[in-house]
Amino acid sequence: MPLPPPPGPGYWGSLAGYRRNPATYFTELAQRHGDVFRWRGFLDIYMLNDPDDVRRVMTQAWPQFNKDNIDYRVLKLTMGNGLVTSDGPAWSRQRRLMQPMFHHRIVNAFDGAINACIETLVERWRAHGPTPPFALDRELSRLTFGVVGATLFGADIEAHADEVAEMLDVMNVNPKTVRALLTLYPWIPTAGNRRFARHLATLDRIVYGLIERRRASGETRADLLGLLLAARDEDSGEGMPERQVRDEIVTLMLAGHETSAVSLAWTFHLLAQHPDIEAMLVDELTRELGGRPALAADLPRLPFLKQVVQESMRLYPPVWGISRAVGTDCEFGGYRIPAGAYLAVLPYALHRHPAHWQDPERFDPARFSPQRSESRHSYCYLPFAAGPRTCIGAGMAMLEIQLVLARLLPLFRVRPVPGHPIVPLASVTYRPRYGIQATAAPRD
Ligand code: HEM
Repeated sequence: MPLPPPPGPGYWGSLAGYRRNPATYFTELAQRHGDVFRWRGFLDIYMLNDPDDVRRVMTQAWPQFNKDNIDYRVLKLTMGNGLVTSDGPAWSRQRRLMQPMFHHRIVNAFDGAINACIETLVERWRAHGPTPPFALDRELSRLTFGVVGATLFGADIEAHADEVAEMLDVMNVNPKTVRALLTLYPWIPTAGNRRFARHLATLDRIVYGLIERRRASGETRADLLGLLLAARDEDSGEGMPERQVRDEIVTLMLAGHETSAVSLAWTFHLLAQHPDIEAMLVDELTRELGGRPALAADLPRLPFLKQVVQESMRLYPPVWGISRAVGTDCEFGGYRIPAGAYLAVLPYALHRHPAHWQDPERFDPARFSPQRSESRHSYCYLPFAAGPRTCIGAGMAMLEIQLVLARLLPLFRVRPVPGHPIVPLASVTYRPRYGIQATAAPRD
């Protein structure tokens, strides 16, 4: 007997719920309809929320669970065939080439460069005494873009940093919006399409310029651009074509900056709401670091810092949803999912699954203590995805986020401006829709 389709709300169930916040809406639907359900709206979405099913999707990957869907088609317009958007043998070759660049020994050696970026922010905040209200999310975004720039290009990017960051912000829109979908049809002369084309051309000019200048200089530097240019395929001995280097650079700039920035913004937000937890963290940092910036080698002695970051990414996973296309008809939970279906896995929902998390809405970093983590299913916590397509920059992100908190928290009390609304927006990343207005005051 043929398998039935998964249950779900009626046709066009509730577009209002989706539009309000797809992350919370799909989490509610999973609680109502179970771990496999189908939502029929402008897209036919099949959602999986059982960690065993999620493991199957994440580990099997291409060709059965591939990236040939609308999300990656839109992202490709900016990122080209970089690591996030490519698939199959082309992806596998690039991943093999790039994996060594993200070895923890190489990543940890960026701690000095990251701390130098943090110090410019420290100086700026210090100059004020208590700062006037400012957009904390924008400040952190500038900081993490500075870090991506420094790790990718060293000092070369400085002259262009603000311009590039601003363009990437404009181009980094939710693929499932009319504005983004229209970019798939560049010949339609909308204002948005014209702006997108202009930004893409400028971005390309700057990135190709940086590559060319580096090649021409003959320098071999230890930043990621240097490593990309030096990478050689094990079998053929060939380097990367110019276009591929461009795609990987734009991919790393996009994948590596907004994600870390929103994670930091939500962590500050959570700590301001939980001053007791903030005090415990500041205690650990002061005790272990005595007022100096942390280095990568210090992190193993700061277990509570890591738990705070992990718990913050549980409640606010920067990548709140991950999608795939189904290769051939398959079965999940006794239901049929057809070839070509749009499959969604939501870290946001998995991180709140009531069968796997006790009191899931509570901010409780101690859940990530080794004892309490031991028996947890490894696929119900996926801020960096998992399997072969796991985030290549996870180590870099964790290093950066921990170094920023380790430096800023003992020095400053960051507090939200009362009355400013904090409303999440599930775009490509999960971020505060109206930003976070805050002040930073010296602690002593
Ligand atoms: C808190 C910060 C970050 C989070 C939450 C995050 C999350 C993720 C997730 C969920 C994926 C899988 C996406 C998918 O399947 O489509 C991913 C992939 C990726 N991330 Fe990250 N990321 C972060 C930081 C970074 C950084 C700092 C870099 C680079 C410097 C980076 C580079 C990448 C790349 C290249 C991929 C594609 C990997 C592949 O498919 O081979 N990410 N990231």
